[in-house]
Amino acid sequence: HGSTQKEIRMSTETEQRVQNLLSDSNSVPMDDSSASSGKHGLQSLPSVSAANSAHVPIADIAKEKFSAELKDKQDRMKTSDKLKAMKSFREKLPAYKLKSEFLKAVANNQVLVVSGETGCGKTTQLPQFILEEEIACLRGADCNIVCTQPRRISAISVSARISSERGEQLGETVGYQIRLEAKRSEHTRLLFCTTGILLRQLVQDPCLTGVSHLLVDEIHERGMNEDFLIIILRDLLPRRPDLRLILMSATINADMFSKYFGDAPTMHIPGFTFPVEELFLEDVLEKSRLSINSKDMFPGNALGRRKQTDSKKDPLVELFEEVEIDAHYKNYCTSTRQSLEEWSAEKIDLDLVEATIEYVCRHEGGGAILVFLTGWDEISKLLDKIKANTLLGNSSKFLVLPLHGSMPTVNQREIFDRPPSSVRKIVLATNIAESSITIDDVVYVVDCGKAKETSYDALNKLACLLPSWISKASAHQRRGRAGRVQPGVCYRLYPKIIYDAMPQYQLPEILRTPLQELCLQIKSLQLGTIAAFLAKALQPPEPLSVHNAVELLKTIGALNETEELTPLGRHLCTLPLEPNIGKMLLMGSIFQCLDPALTIAAALAHRDPFVLPLNRKEDADAAKRSFAGDSCSDHIALLKAFDGWKNAKRSGREKAYCWENFLSPLTLQMMEDMRKQFLDLLSDIGFVDKSKGAKAYNIYSDDLEMVSAILCAGLYPNVVQCKRRGKRTAFYTKEVGKVDIHPASVNAGVNSLPLPYLVYSEKVKTANIYVRDSTNISDYALLLFGGSLIPSKTGEGIEMLEGYLHFSAAKSVLDLIKKLRNELDKLLGRK
Ligand code: CDP
Ligand code: MG
Repeated sequence: HGSTQKEIRMSTETEQRVQNLLSDSNSVPMDDSSASSGKHGLQSLPSVSAANSAHVPIADIAKEKFSAELKDKQDRMKTSDKLKAMKSFREKLPAYKLKSEFLKAVANNQVLVVSGETGCGKTTQLPQFILEEEIACLRGADCNIVCTQPRRISAISVSARISSERGEQLGETVGYQIRLEAKRSEHTRLLFCTTGILLRQLVQDPCLTGVSHLLVDEIHERGMNEDFLIIILRDLLPRRPDLRLILMSATINADMFSKYFGDAPTMHIPGFTFPVEELFLEDVLEKSRLSINSKDMFPGNALGRRKQTDSKKDPLVELFEEVEIDAHYKNYCTSTRQSLEEWSAEKIDLDLVEATIEYVCRHEGGGAILVFLTGWDEISKLLDKIKANTLLGNSSKFLVLPLHGSMPTVNQREIFDRPPSSVRKIVLATNIAESSITIDDVVYVVDCGKAKETSYDALNKLACLLPSWISKASAHQRRGRAGRVQPGVCYRLYPKIIYDAMPQYQLPEILRTPLQELCLQIKSLQLGTIAAFLAKALQPPEPLSVHNAVELLKTIGALNETEELTPLGRHLCTLPLEPNIGKMLLMGSIFQCLDPALTIAAALAHRDPFVLPLNRKEDADAAKRSFAGDSCSDHIALLKAFDGWKNAKRSGREKAYCWENFLSPLTLQMMEDMRKQFLDLLSDIGFVDKSKGAKAYNIYSDDLEMVSAILCAGLYPNVVQCKRRGKRTAFYTKEVGKVDIHPASVNAGVNSLPLPYLVYSEKVKTANIYVRDSTNISDYALLLFGGSLIPSKTGEGIEMLEGYLHFSAAKSVLDLIKKLRNELDKLLGRK
């Protein structure tokens, strides 16, 4: 800190930069090497702090030159012809009118909260205003603007957009950095990164020394990372008086954030959107009825198709039957939250969604359709349906695109591009399209009213990711997406009564998710006691949830008794994954059983690829069972199914394979992509040395006992004890007592299992408490791999075995195992 050594190094860097600029001002060298050094976060960002430069006149001169270059380049750009259209587009955005007011507020306040309707130009314009201003005032070299995004995909699309608005290549003045992927160079002055990347950067640089302006975007979503970040920032601000913090929100409700930052000033950008007609389910049905009356008979209508046995029935009558069902729901939903939840457990009616899309295509004018669904499952099902649809399946007339947050970042352009007028774009999206991604040409929104939401039941230690009703705020957002370029229509596929009962805002993520990943981060950022830190949150989580998370981290051996990180914990911090999944990957690489660990971790982090066709459930179950063989394991079934897919792909029979085995090709592809990401992560933190080749890490990959043991390492403490009760087996967990095996599991309905324990991926609560995907494991696997590596007082596996082993060798076996575990722990410590 402040050492001359460092200063001199920086000044040479700066000079080099100037050299580069002077030698070739057109082609800017791209520094893609930062992509591979993802773990260093923003570290490679050239940062010359004002305090340092006072002692180093050489750097000053270099910086001045650099700033002048930046300004010159920017000025030249302004006059370029091809940017005129872009410029006038920008000037029409509502944010533009408040440009000088915004810049003044930023200059005069350390914290500013800006709200404005989605699409008004917050994300693309506000950081850009700062950038332009800094460059224009010859402060370009010193400015270092960082804007966080909750999702990878928006970091990329927004930085690409701004680059083209500036007539530059992505990665010049404006760049992005997401986990394992970056486009930035030494010239980058405005960086978009995921909130996770910034949090990681804080580990190395707790004061964000290099950053001059920080914009935290989409704070209205109340994501866990953003809520976490603002606690840290509030503590940091007094220590960084020169840092400017701008919080950006899509809803007017910015007061809460302002209060949190000691009544920071707020600014609202009044938006302009075209009026959007809003149709609830009853209106949709009425409207489609009218157009059926007047125009053609809605031939491909899925609603008409649904009851084909009744083919003589007028589709119109059937539509009314649907309305009848609504009336039933109206009585049923006496607008209590309880009944709302009951209905939200129902699946989205994809037939209705398909019919609505078809209706729009037949009867409404041109314009893209944006469909909001809850997740990948529905997106892929609907994609299949559309492919098979006589009208919509015509790929020369319809461009159907999925949009999902965990989609690989390839080829997103088509989502934003306008297709030729003969083609209608249909985007099937999750709530990612609600506020962080703006697709301009959307005229029709089809809103199913739901989103996948995690919820956490602290008492039963149950985490669920289930579709549930969105909030009124979200519904409003979704509707607004239809009015960007012309008046639009929003088709809500639920009755008004449901809307009326929706909560105003969604519960913040920090209050409805397990907190273990967050707790690890608190520890790695050395923010003190977990409970005390979290008590400072905007809306602090329940003490019981915090307690559970800390206990779990102790149980899996990431924290020790005094809440300090263990060697394992330190490694888990470096992986942006749930600690359990991270542990499975680490153990998989240590025990040379990597391939299975990657596949299972991908399925756990994403979803499993088995599809459940309603009418052929038995066949699907049988297919899954045949994959499992006699392993008594859903995870091994999954593994075999995945490996089979890879073989089938090689021999070009992927489609038939998936069809025959009830597998989703899209999910399998997604898993394949995630496996690659995980492998990169492991190599990034030094657990895998790619130069050694895959073989070195897969010596035991075919050994199913080893695979089960690795599963146990990852899934512990999700353990079920199997107890014989006469002819049947009963299943118990420590927290909730008796549980059932989920009917979709290969272990369901089995009278006896060969081994005494099961490990499972998750518990779900419906009528009963079910354990989903499970694997039968031996007590030895549990002993060796369950729980903490360190045989501590609470080393449960060991205690359990001590009670279990009665034979005389028990003592020496135990000693040996303790030794082994100690060795393993040391191994981790050395890494
Ligand atoms: O952040 P906010 O929702 O306020 O708006 P924005 O993301 O800055 O977008 C402003 C406008 O830029 C949008 O309405 C789009 O018209 C356009 N835009 C685009 O065309 N392509 C992108 N990738 C991002 C924005
Ligand atoms: Mg935005």
